Amino acid sequence: MFINLSQQHSLISNWMSEIRDKEFQKDRQRFRRNLERIGEVAAYEISKKMDFIEKEVETPLGSATCKMIKDQPVLATILRAGIPMHNGLLNYFDKADNAFISAYRKHQKDGSFEISLDYVSCPELEDRILIISDPMLATGASLVKTIHYLKAEGKPREIHIVAAIACTVGIEYVTREDPGVTIWCGDIDDELTAKGYIVPGLGDAGDLAYGVKVQI
Ligand code: URA
Repeated sequence: MFINLSQQHSLISNWMSEIRDKEFQKDRQRFRRNLERIGEVAAYEISKKMDFIEKEVETPLGSATCKMIKDQPVLATILRAGIPMHNGLLNYFDKADNAFISAYRKHQKDGSFEISLDYVSCPELEDRILIISDPMLATGASLVKTIHYLKAEGKPREIHIVAAIACTVGIEYVTREDPGVTIWCGDIDDELTAKGYIVPGLGDAGDLAYGVKVQI
């Protein structure tokens, strides 16, 4: 299942427009903050699907029956481009556990690449709600590899993926490999270049957030 958060008019459309815009992209802090804001709204939307429990809270004037989310999720992200969205999700799910995965495109001389998974730091995942942020769901290869790896550590009850831009091919690949996942995205693009970049997309999200890296 996938949910395009731009389908309804909301502030998400403004932030999506800014992260795509070459002029706005010159402001790295604004780029990161917009990804963070998209992560915050995605957290709010995901929370609507969660289970809640009632809790009696003592106020200075009496007692109120309040509702609280039942289970804290695990927030996972793929370094480095995922960090701003992860921060946004964590701003809202502020008691969540966290997982960090280093997955990157290891380029060959002929321009092809394979996904290399290095560092993984992860809490217990068995029966947890896992929310993975990756701003650009392009081919879906790194997400699928990450999900397979994490599932081998413990089987989450639910898996949500949060992306700023998701490419149709990537959505199809991820949902084919793991039909149970729910993908939340800021927008959907249909085209992918031979090098795996989304068109029109926005460019390289990691470079725009943190500066251009050297290719290894
Ligand atoms: N990663 C990016 O940063 N941009 C793309 O277009 C695809 C993957």
